[in-house]
Amino acid sequence: MKRRTGIRVWDPFIRLFHWTLALAFFAAYFTEGEPEWLHVTAGYLIAALLAVRLIWGFVGSEHARFTDFVRSPVTVLHYLRDEFAGRARRYLGHNPAGGIMVLALLLSLAGTALSGMPLLAAEEGEGPLAGWLVPAPVEQAANGQDAPETALAKNAEEVHEVFANLTLLLVGLHVLGVAVESARHRENLTRAMITGYKRE
Ligand code: HEM
Repeated sequence: MKRRTGIRVWDPFIRLFHWTLALAFFAAYFTEGEPEWLHVTAGYLIAALLAVRLIWGFVGSEHARFTDFVRSPVTVLHYLRDEFAGRARRYLGHNPAGGIMVLALLLSLAGTALSGMPLLAAEEGEGPLAGWLVPAPVEQAANGQDAPETALAKNAEEVHEVFANLTLLLVGLHVLGVAVESARHRENLTRAMITGYKRE
């Protein structure tokens, strides 16, 4: 049997978190709400993953911790300058630009998942905020009539769409960044996110 060489960088939770998150995001985004159960389930899964990742950022393994990859804007700018000059150093965990991207992804995903909840309550009378925010239209919907679109539903829908599209844009930049860094340091970062290991 081939022995694994290198150093373990990503713990099992981070790897499971990452690939489940990616799958859930694509499922939620590209189904655009149809079928609704799939979209809503994927949204809840994303919210739960983010909540656990938040805790893991304080108590998880070395490179999973926020203190390992959240750096000052000056450090990020210096890193980007070095990156464009082709002399950026290699990091085992997230590099400073990658760290900012991770934060942006987590925040944008949280905005998407959280804005989905008032939208679900306002449009379908379902979810954790149902009954709290909009009882009247829901009763109407239960009587077989179409619920009129409330201002809340309209606003929540807009916010939800803006966050979802921002997340998609960030994911595009994230995958581009992964490809560039993989080529620059001649290491397969995607494989490392699967196996957990990188060369020393
Ligand atoms: C399918 C294409 C994707 C590939 C190849 C990919 C690859 C990677 C890799 C290699 C890393 C580690 C980066 C590093 O070495 O610093 C990473 C981290 C991360 N990616 Fe992706 N990714 C993909 C899609 C996504 C999607 C769709 C999302 C979110 C919706 C996402 C969110 C994240 C997050 C939040 C992290 C940080 C992991 C952590 O520390 O918790 N990725 N990704």
